[in-house]
Amino acid sequence: MSDKPWAGRFKLPTNKFVEEFNASIHFDKRLYKYDVNGSIAHVRMLAACGIVTDEEADSIVEGLGNVLQEIEDGTFEFRTEDEDIHMAVEKRMTELVGPVGGKLHTARSRNDQVALDMRMYLRAEIEIIRGYLLELIKVLCDKAEAEMGAVMPGYTHLQTAQPILFSHYIMAYCQMLKRDYGRFTDCAERMNLSPLGSGALAGTTFPIDRDRTAEALGFDAPTENSLDSVSDRDFALEFLSAASICQMHLSRLSEELIIYSTSEFDFIELSDDFCTGSSIMPQKKNPDMPELIRGKTGRVYGSLMGMLTTMKGLPLAYNKDMQEDKEPVFDTADTIKASLKIFIPMMEKMQIKREKMRESASLGFSTATDLADYLVRKGVPFRQSHHIVGSAVAKALDKGCDISELTIEELKSFSNRIDEDVYSYITVDASVNSRAAKGGTAEKSVKEQIDNARKFIEDNS
Ligand code: ARG
Repeated sequence: MSDKPWAGRFKLPTNKFVEEFNASIHFDKRLYKYDVNGSIAHVRMLAACGIVTDEEADSIVEGLGNVLQEIEDGTFEFRTEDEDIHMAVEKRMTELVGPVGGKLHTARSRNDQVALDMRMYLRAEIEIIRGYLLELIKVLCDKAEAEMGAVMPGYTHLQTAQPILFSHYIMAYCQMLKRDYGRFTDCAERMNLSPLGSGALAGTTFPIDRDRTAEALGFDAPTENSLDSVSDRDFALEFLSAASICQMHLSRLSEELIIYSTSEFDFIELSDDFCTGSSIMPQKKNPDMPELIRGKTGRVYGSLMGMLTTMKGLPLAYNKDMQEDKEPVFDTADTIKASLKIFIPMMEKMQIKREKMRESASLGFSTATDLADYLVRKGVPFRQSHHIVGSAVAKALDKGCDISELTIEELKSFSNRIDEDVYSYITVDASVNSRAAKGGTAEKSVKEQIDNARKFIEDNS
C-alpha cells in the first residue's frame, strides 16, 4: 500500500502535504557523500563482526558506490516521498542490489545516522573554514608588513585617542582571527566522536564493533552514551557559536572599512572590483562587500539563536524538531566561507592613504597623553599632569592649533617643568615609537606580533 520503509503499522498513506512538510531531502541531500561513506563503514563492520556475510557486504558496498555515482552524475532522482537522504540512498541501493540491501540498516537507526552525517559534514566544513582563516591571517600579516610606518589615529568612542601604526590596527584583527581559528579547532576536536551504532536511542542488540566504524571514518573514538549520542547537537551549536563570533569580527572590520572609505575619513580605498556603483549617482563607489558581510552577520546570529531555541525544551532522545538543525547549519557554513573568501582578496587589494591617515593622526590632540607622560617623567603626579595638559589643550583649541604648535613660553605657562625637549615627545612618530612595551603600537612590538602570527600559520599548516 505504501513503499515507505516504516509503512507496516499504518492503515492510511501519508497525506501529501504532510509528506512535503515532513521531508528534509531537499536540503539534507547535501549530506549524501557522508551518508554513503558512513553506510559503507557500517556494513563493512557488520561483515567483520559476522552479522552479514562478506558477499552481502560486497554487494551493498557496490550498490552504495553506484548510488554515489548517480548522485554525482546528476542522474539520481531526489523524491519528496523518500523523506530524507538516508532513506533515499538506502532505497536506491536496494533497488540496485535487490533484497540484500535491506540488511544495511541492521544495528543502526536514522537517529545515529543523521548525527554521524552532520558531524562528518561539519568536520569537513570546519577544515575549509580554518584554511580560509589562515589565508586571511597571512594576507593581513603581509599588509601589516608592507605598510609598516603608516600612522593612523587610534580611537575610543570613535573620538581621536592616540596615534597608532596602521599595522598595529591590522594585527589586532589577526589576534581575533587566531582565536576564531582556535575556537573552530576546539569545536572540531570535540565533535570528532562517532555516534554510529547508538541505534535509535538505547544501543543495539547486535555484537557490533563501534571502535571499528569510528576508526574507519576518521573519528577519535565512539561516543559513550547512546542516549546522548542521538540527542546531542552541541557540536552544531558550538559551530554556530564559533561562526557567530568570527562573523562578528568580520563585521567590525567591515564597519571600519566602510567608514574609512568615506570621503570624510578617506583612509583607505577598496579595489574597484570589490565595489559597485549607483544606477543614478555617477560619482558613487559603494563598499557593498563589507556592507553585505556586516549584514549577513544577522543571519548567522539568527541561526545560532534559532538552534538554541529549537533545542531548549527537547526531552531525550531524538525528536523531529532536530531536523531543523540542517538549514541554519548549512546556511552558516556557506555564509562564513563566502565572507572569508571575499575578505581575503579584498584586504589584499585594499590601498591605504598614508598621508591622509597621518594628517588625521596629528589632529584631535592625539599626543596629549604623551605630554602628560612627559610631565610624569619630570616628577609631576599623573593626575596633576592630566589637568595641566587639559589646560594646554584648551589653549590650543582657542588658538586653533595643535599642542605641538604652542610656543615654549605658552607651554611653560602651564608648568615650569616643560622644557624645549618636549617637542621631541609630542610628535605623532615619537608617540608611536615610545609605546614599545609588549603589545604596544611601536614598530618593534608590531613586528613581534607579525612574527608570532606567521609562526601560528606555520604551526597550523
Ligand atoms: N531527517 C531526519 C533528521 O534530519 C533524520 C532522522 C529521522 N529520524 C526519525 N526517527 N524520524 O533529523
